[in-house]
Amino acid sequence: MPFPPRARLIANRSPVVLPSMLLCDFGHLADEIGQLADVGVEGFHLDVMDGHFVPNLTYGMPIVEAARRATELPLDVHLMIAHPGRYLRAFADAGADVITVHVEVDEDPAELLSAIRKLGAAAGLACNPATPLDRVEPYLPWCDLVLVMSVPAGFGGQPFDRAALRKLAALREWARAEDRILEIDGGVNPDTAPDAVEHGADWLVAGSAIFRSDNYESAVQALNRAAGAAGPSRLEP
Ligand code: DX5
Ligand code: ZN
Repeated sequence: MPFPPRARLIANRSPVVLPSMLLCDFGHLADEIGQLADVGVEGFHLDVMDGHFVPNLTYGMPIVEAARRATELPLDVHLMIAHPGRYLRAFADAGADVITVHVEVDEDPAELLSAIRKLGAAAGLACNPATPLDRVEPYLPWCDLVLVMSVPAGFGGQPFDRAALRKLAALREWARAEDRILEIDGGVNPDTAPDAVEHGADWLVAGSAIFRSDNYESAVQALNRAAGAAGPSRLEP
């Protein structure tokens, strides 16, 4: 599996819970990352939005660079932007270990995924709930990871769309046979996590289930327990 060293740490572990850095306190980003690392998260999911591909606008390379300075844990960068091809090198240089683009953009996914791999990052392809899996399947040979969205990309705090489970189940054989990662993102919480794992999710992205809780440690542990994620050894009781 061509995962870069940092991401390889979690590429061989399943399931893994990754906090979505969208609803966190960006005024104290390094502290937020430190607190989450201390309670055992094994990587971070960074949601980049441009206000064009999705109606929301979040952040770009400077925040990825700041996160890179704050942790050696893998950075899983989710590009919800209209022209990702223009920014792949900049996000790789900013410290992204995994770069995921959306199959819905007007650029050739195979070219984007190949370019991400050439930059030394793992290549991910994301699809929104409304996008049929047959839009993704032609590009699987170029994917190290497929990100199945269980909410329409753009905002945290939306309800989990169970249709995502069918997509996970349909991709599970491919992921196992090719040693690739299936990731689910949106509405993941202790209630939805078990089904996501049962249908094949390796990485589970959680935003509001962590950042809308009043205690990161208990929120992360509840997610790890629900997902059957071992978490790192230091979490063992
Ligand atoms: C949505 C983002 C998700 C979202 C997850 O476009 O890609 O990562 O922030 O947040 P929750 O877990 O609250 O749905
Ligand atoms: Zn995301």
